[in-house]
Amino acid sequence: MAIEKRYKVIDVVDASKESNDILISGWVRNKRQSKNVAFLSVNDGSTIKNLQVVIDLSKVDIDLIEKINTGTAVSIIGKIVKSQGRDQSFELNAHKIDILGIADPESYPLQPKKHSFEFLRDISHLRSRTNTFGAIFRIRHAIIYAIHNFFNSKGFLNIHTPILTSSDAEGAGEMFKVTTLDIEKKIKNNYKDDFFGKEVNLTVSGQLNAELAALGLSEVYTFGPTFRAENSNTSRHLAEFWMIEPEMAFYDIKDNMDLAEEMLKHLVKYTLDNCKDDLSFLEKAEEDRDKQKPMLERQSLNLTERLKFVCNNTFERLTYSEAFQILKSSKPNKKNKFDFPVNEWGIDFQSEHERYLVEKHFKKPVIIVDYPKKIKAFYMRQNDDNKTVAAMDVLFPIVGEIIGGSQREERYDKLLSRMKEMNISKKQLWWYLETRKFGTVIHSGFGLGLERLVQFVTGMTNIRDVIPFPRSPGNCNF
Ligand code: 4AD
Ligand code: MG
Repeated sequence: MAIEKRYKVIDVVDASKESNDILISGWVRNKRQSKNVAFLSVNDGSTIKNLQVVIDLSKVDIDLIEKINTGTAVSIIGKIVKSQGRDQSFELNAHKIDILGIADPESYPLQPKKHSFEFLRDISHLRSRTNTFGAIFRIRHAIIYAIHNFFNSKGFLNIHTPILTSSDAEGAGEMFKVTTLDIEKKIKNNYKDDFFGKEVNLTVSGQLNAELAALGLSEVYTFGPTFRAENSNTSRHLAEFWMIEPEMAFYDIKDNMDLAEEMLKHLVKYTLDNCKDDLSFLEKAEEDRDKQKPMLERQSLNLTERLKFVCNNTFERLTYSEAFQILKSSKPNKKNKFDFPVNEWGIDFQSEHERYLVEKHFKKPVIIVDYPKKIKAFYMRQNDDNKTVAAMDVLFPIVGEIIGGSQREERYDKLLSRMKEMNISKKQLWWYLETRKFGTVIHSGFGLGLERLVQFVTGMTNIRDVIPFPRSPGNCNF
């Protein structure tokens, strides 16, 4: 009989009826064999659930079955039948098996047992074959899809902003240089001999270009890779990460906060509604890991509760000055001290301060506005007090800052004088300044770190575990 279609494992394990012969392909996670029958757990990455394949050994070539091990790629034709086992409702009764690629059991690094995330990071080329990373990458995909959907449904245009950039004025972080010059030889005459004839870097943010687009197309968003060479070897920083940056003409800071809150709730709700199996797997895995930890280090809310914490709460909004007063008079822990003291107005908040406000003080997500201008970028709109700018950070449990944004300075003279104060070249940013000369309007935008959001949704403690191939100081493998 002709097999017309290759099915995915997800279609079979969730099948609602028995079928005629179908074809599936995937990798063997586990093999159990007795005298008359062999069981294979097969997965093709389409679902957290494995397909149980039942093989009647009297009907197949035993030598072939002997060659199948964990990691072997197989193609199987069989019938979907109701399962006798407890773990699945349907299984595949195989009658034809092909080995597509063998995996030597002696050297295949992934065995059917628990491996540490650190170990799996060292084998990033194989880790998408594990339950945990399958779940994470499916959720990551779902979030990306939901982001495009969200903005499309609001009439935003997706704009590609450049990855190679010659403006170094964003001030968001240290940059990676891009050059075709022999770096052993000194760079002479100001990069004149270099590929672009000037100094070029990898972008730290698409914002300045997104602003140009917004001041013509009204509502746009850029979604691309960004690069920061800060030497921050933390569980929340990557050297290469993906950022979603909406930029909107005619939006003030309040409109900006409203959009950020609506978007985050939508994205988290989307995963709750559409990634149930993967989320419950990750929730259970987190609970198992937590059991090994001392009481104080365990999560007080489980994964689903944390996601609902975002969807069901109105985000608390307050100014930097108000947040500063709360933190200054707070008793955060037994020692009544933060590692980074909160003593002087103007300090930048650290992740411990952000998490205290969210997890202990307000018990809901928080948006802080009106930061001291000293600690924020040149393009943020100056407030009348001459001390603060219309900046906003959205703070979440566990990850701390998830979004940074602002209303932009649309007044030519104010922008120019701030650039002078901060030593930013007018010559280099002439094009940015021109948008304030011709038909300038109020506008705002923000940046969401995709990996910070995926980290929050999946409950992974290290950001390197939510991007397929992480780049961080000293680590650029695969
Ligand atoms: O706060 P940031 O630096 O803001 C900007 O770059 C603005 N130009 C955005 C805008 O207004 N269009 O970065 C925005 C977000 C942070 O809130 C954080 O979620 C994430 O990007 N982020 C990082 N994620 C992973 N690794 C890093 N090194 C990150 N740095 C920032
Ligand atoms: Mg920031």
